[in-house]
Amino acid sequence: MSEPRHAPATARNREAIFAVLQRVLPSNGLLLEIASGTGEHAAFMAPQLAITWQPTDGDPAALSDIDAHAKANGANNIRTALHLDVVNFPWPVAHADALFCCNMIHIAPWEAAEGLFAGAAAILPEGAPLILYGPFRRHGEHTAPSNVQFEEWLKAKDARFGVRDLDGEVPALAARNGFQREEIVPMPANNLTVVFRRIASA
Ligand SMILES: C[S@@+](CC[C@H](N)C(=O)[O-])C[C@H]1O[C@@H](n2cnc3c(N)ncnc32)[C@H](O)[C@@H]1O
Repeated sequence: MSEPRHAPATARNREAIFAVLQRVLPSNGLLLEIASGTGEHAAFMAPQLAITWQPTDGDPAALSDIDAHAKANGANNIRTALHLDVVNFPWPVAHADALFCCNMIHIAPWEAAEGLFAGAAAILPEGAPLILYGPFRRHGEHTAPSNVQFEEWLKAKDARFGVRDLDGEVPALAARNGFQREEIVPMPANNLTVVFRRIASA
């Protein structure tokens, strides 16, 4: 069998993201990870938490990589990866206590962000955290020249992709689905971790 894929950025951002997750996640229950990619965040973080971690991805080809990284780390609280495309309802997970989505909403059409919040609203109870990580605009503006270049690269890939606005479209979408933006934590390389909280039924 070939080696599972690696995403080198996960080794650079995992400690900073983990520091936030450790603080805001419930101490037990189920964490649903959306767009797990290679699964390296799950493999690194889950063994340090008491929570059960459910990795997923919209790309069926990613699932074996996720499972391979979990197995290699010997984690016993990571479930078998599931195919979950955020725009397809109902999601294959009916209830979760927290949701984590890293580096997806900028590298997918806006419909993916819409699907993410709508799906999360259907499965998270009041008070549950929804944690996003990635590059964001602030008040419509890029936060660094590197993000300007990154968005050019994204748009060349697919014109529907783009760095989303953390003071406009994203919190508006969150609010429509019953989520409130609670905290913004600066991360390395001009990224942000953003904590939303489910405040009410949408
Ligand atoms: C840049 S990768 C990020 C992977 C991982 N979270 C990380 O930070 O390394 C983006 C991921 O989003 C997934 N993705 C894109 N559109 C999606 C969708 N509609 N539903 C679920 N996953 C999706 C891709 O398959 C890919 O694994």
